Amino acid sequence: MSKVAVIGCGYVGLATAATLSHLGHHVVAAEVNPDRLVLLREGRSPILEDGLEDLLREGLAKGTLEFVDDAAIAAEGAEFAFLCVQTPMSDDGRADLTWVEAAVREIGPVLERGAIVVTKSTVPVGSSRVVGRVLHREDVSVVSNPEFLQEGAAVHDSLHPSRIVIGSDDQAAAIRVAGLFEEIQAPLVITDPASAETIKYASNSFLAMKVSFVNAVAALSEAVGADVADVVVGMGYDHRIGAEFLKPGPGWGGSCFPKDVRAMRAIADDAGYDFHLLDAVIAVNDEQFDRVVDKIEQGAGGTLDGATVAVWGLTFKARTADVRESPSIEIVRRLVAKGATIRAYDPTVIAPLDGITVVGDAYEACAGADVLAVLTEWDEFRWLDFDRVAEAMAGRSVVDGRNLLESAALRRLGFEYQGIGR
Ligand code: NAD
Ligand code: UGA
Repeated sequence: MSKVAVIGCGYVGLATAATLSHLGHHVVAAEVNPDRLVLLREGRSPILEDGLEDLLREGLAKGTLEFVDDAAIAAEGAEFAFLCVQTPMSDDGRADLTWVEAAVREIGPVLERGAIVVTKSTVPVGSSRVVGRVLHREDVSVVSNPEFLQEGAAVHDSLHPSRIVIGSDDQAAAIRVAGLFEEIQAPLVITDPASAETIKYASNSFLAMKVSFVNAVAALSEAVGADVADVVVGMGYDHRIGAEFLKPGPGWGGSCFPKDVRAMRAIADDAGYDFHLLDAVIAVNDEQFDRVVDKIEQGAGGTLDGATVAVWGLTFKARTADVRESPSIEIVRRLVAKGATIRAYDPTVIAPLDGITVVGDAYEACAGADVLAVLTEWDEFRWLDFDRVAEAMAGRSVVDGRNLLESAALRRLGFEYQGIGR
């Protein structure tokens, strides 16, 4: 059992803290957001993640998990300090290390001799050196341990990761970090810091590229009269391609893909390699937002000016309450710019958002709407009463941005149905 500090209690920090305490380590987690801290101390999760509250309560009850408001307090006496703070995109597309550096400054003076600082936040290649420089401690090692969890499956992915990547110039420190996770069955990749940091960006960029690719195939399918649903089934059986991340949609978003693809582009630029493939990945995604807007405009009879659009789904994907960089919200912005009025519903969003009217249920969103746009793949949308939807709407047009609904059933009810790539 080791003493572990976790700095930052967002998706990554909480999953890390909950997993390590579940594995028997003693974890002190620091969070500066007072609202989050109050919830956490009561064993309540500030984020929607299956199984997280159970693990938080287990840790609090066993006394293996504590929450504090100060990174330095968490780091006192810790053998390992995991940096799990945000690394948002700065104006030039590069990752902003302000929070990482601030956290390192806080913990640096109190860490014990022989402690290890573990960077879990997604940070540009070379950040291990930056952390080491800011830390300014010869007797403390720095290890990179990128995180690959998906929101909505954070606990599952932490307990059953696809792989554990550890990068350090200090082999002994890398092996000690690996030892923390020894009960977890997963391939272990021990490498140098630059490779570990590159693995993280290359993985996210590759996944984003896959989604951009399938969205481009969807556009092609529409042009040639193919059904993208069948195309991806046929592609996915080839294990070299794989069936995952081949779902066409309204474009990719979330707190990581948009910033990480741009950060990787910038990392390559700084290193003198012109990674222009990533420009196409970003451009295709941006075009996808417009493609969905065009479909909605067409569904509204050719103009959005004065049209009412019912929007189902505001989060960047289903099974999360996270709206950061949500394609749905970007599409809503573009609809509003073209004169549309939006009535939105999302199972996890209650407050008005960016001036969008958010209503309490899916039928209410449809009241008087000319078009219905489905932008997040919440399963509950599939089981709604579409007779009631038709009654509530002024028009009979559906744009299914996630290919979630039964197109034939909707057409039988008199709806004009537009999906993606079919
Ligand atoms: P987040 O914004 O949800 O959480 C970060 C938390 O750290 C916030 O609650 C913030 O208040 C807190 N914090 C910041 N500075 C602090 C300090 N000095 N002391 C104590 N608390 C502090 O972020 P996240 O989504 O968990 O992402 C964190 C990092 O992990 C990012 O680099 C991200 O790219 C990466 N990542 C995220 C995911 C994901 O699914 N969200 C997956 C893999 C990697
Ligand atoms: C993503 C990665 O999947 C994680 O491995 C990584 O750890 C994380 O980013 C991160 O670094 O933060 P996440 O942001 O939770 O995880 O979201 P994904 O499930 O990857 O989805 C990203 C976007 O792509 C969403 O908007 C989603 O709707 C879209 N998507 C995904 C599709 O449109 N089609 C697909 O087939 C898959």
